[in-house]
Parts: sequence; C-alpha cells; structure tokens
Amino acid sequence: MAKDVIIACDFNGRDETLRFLDRFPADCRPYVKIGMELYYSAGPDIVRAIKERGHRIFLDLKLHDIPNTVRKTMKVLSSLDIDMCNVHAAGTVDMMRAALEGLVRPDGTRPLLIAVTQLTSTDEERLHRELLVSAPMAETIAHYAENARTAGLDGVVCSPLEAAMVHERCGADFLAVTPGIRFAGAGADDQRRITTPAQAREIGSDYIVVGRPITAAGDPVAAYRQCIKDFLNA
Ligand code: C5P
Repeated sequence: MAKDVIIACDFNGRDETLRFLDRFPADCRPYVKIGMELYYSAGPDIVRAIKERGHRIFLDLKLHDIPNTVRKTMKVLSSLDIDMCNVHAAGTVDMMRAALEGLVRPDGTRPLLIAVTQLTSTDEERLHRELLVSAPMAETIAHYAENARTAGLDGVVCSPLEAAMVHERCGADFLAVTPGIRFAGAGADDQRRITTPAQAREIGSDYIVVGRPITAAGDPVAAYRQCIKDFLNA
C-alpha cells in the first residue's frame, strides 16, 4: 500500500483553496483532504475542480446516520470520483457495511473507506463521564478499529501514536491515517498528541494528514516537500 502525505485544505471557500493549490507546480499534485467546512461552503463543485487539476482527494465528511441513509449518501459521494472518504465507527458495523455497499461504483471500483474511532478532542474523562463508555480509551480505539475491519473497511483515522497498535490488532495492511503532525521544534497549535513526519513513519502511519504546518507556511510547496522527504524517507 502506497504511503503518502495528505494536505488538509481547511479553507472556507473555493477561491482561497484554488489560490493555495495554484502555488504548486504542474508536476507536483499533492493528495488533498476536503473537510466539512470547505465541502459545505463550496459544494461538490470544489471536489470536481480539484480532481480536474489532477489531485487525489480524501473527502472527510465523517458520516454517522442510519445504515440506509449512509448507504444512499455514499452512492452520491462515490460518483464524485473521490479516492478516500470516512464514517464514524460509532455508527456500528451494520452502518459501516452499508457505507461500503453504497460506495461501490457501477464499474466495480470504490474509494477507500476508513473510520473515525474516537475523535482526538474526546479525552478519557469525557469518554467515561459523558459518553458512559467504561473501557479505557486505548481499548475503545482498538475495538472500534476491529469493528471497522470486521465491516470490511480499509482502515481508521487515529493518532500517529496509535498506528502500531492498530496494525497489531487489525493487520499490517489495515490503514492508519494520522493527523496530529508537526515539524520538530514547531508549536502544537490545538493538537495534543503529535509526532513529526519521521516519527509517524517509524511508528507505522500509512498516510499523514497535515494542515497548518503546510497551509500556514511561508513557502507551502517547500513545507510539503519537506514532509514528503521526512515521511517517505526519500
Ligand atoms: O492543521 P492541522 O495539521 O492540525 O490539521 C489536521 C487536520 O486533521 C484537520 O483537518 C483536522 O480537522 C483533522 N483531524 C484531526 N484529528 C482527528 C481527525 C481529523 O486533527 N482526530
């Protein structure tokens, strides 16, 4: 399975996003993540526009609804020619199976489907007190990852620090897609459990999702190339 760096394009409109991507030369087409903010403000057209420029796309909409609704929504999203999308594992194995069914295109291909286990903004205290989940956080994440594997999904979104555990429990071919990446010596912003691109490689991340260290850099192309170099050891 190819490893790669995915840039989180957390912009709130089409123009700002395309201006950012315009900075990359024609022979450099990074994998791009479109999240809820951009998708809800710019709609499916921004997906088509970025795809037409030759980028692969992770559509990060984190679906969580009844299986029938998720199946039908995934059918719509798969027609956008995206490369990866996701659901919440908390939606149950049945919901994840329905998502997978909805994603298969008429020609038999489908985007990769990964599951959010526990959001990194949920801490152990909230897990127990608010959500009434009594198992420890690490066990919850491992169990949700196993549910995703049972449903036939391709992997999970998790902290890079959890990548080795996910591979141990679900197999080396089960993808660990990991945000929470910072260059050595840089601030953490609002992220808590961070690693450098090189540490993420060593722990076993398959894809790293990198936002501000690239989007807010003075030279985003240089920052992206540094990430690629560090993560792929290239
Ligand atoms: O700017 P930064 O590198 O922190 O961006 C990380 C990206 O990954 C953001 O788009 C954020 O929403 C996303 N993400 C995350 N933690 C998760 C799931 C997604 O940071 N658990």
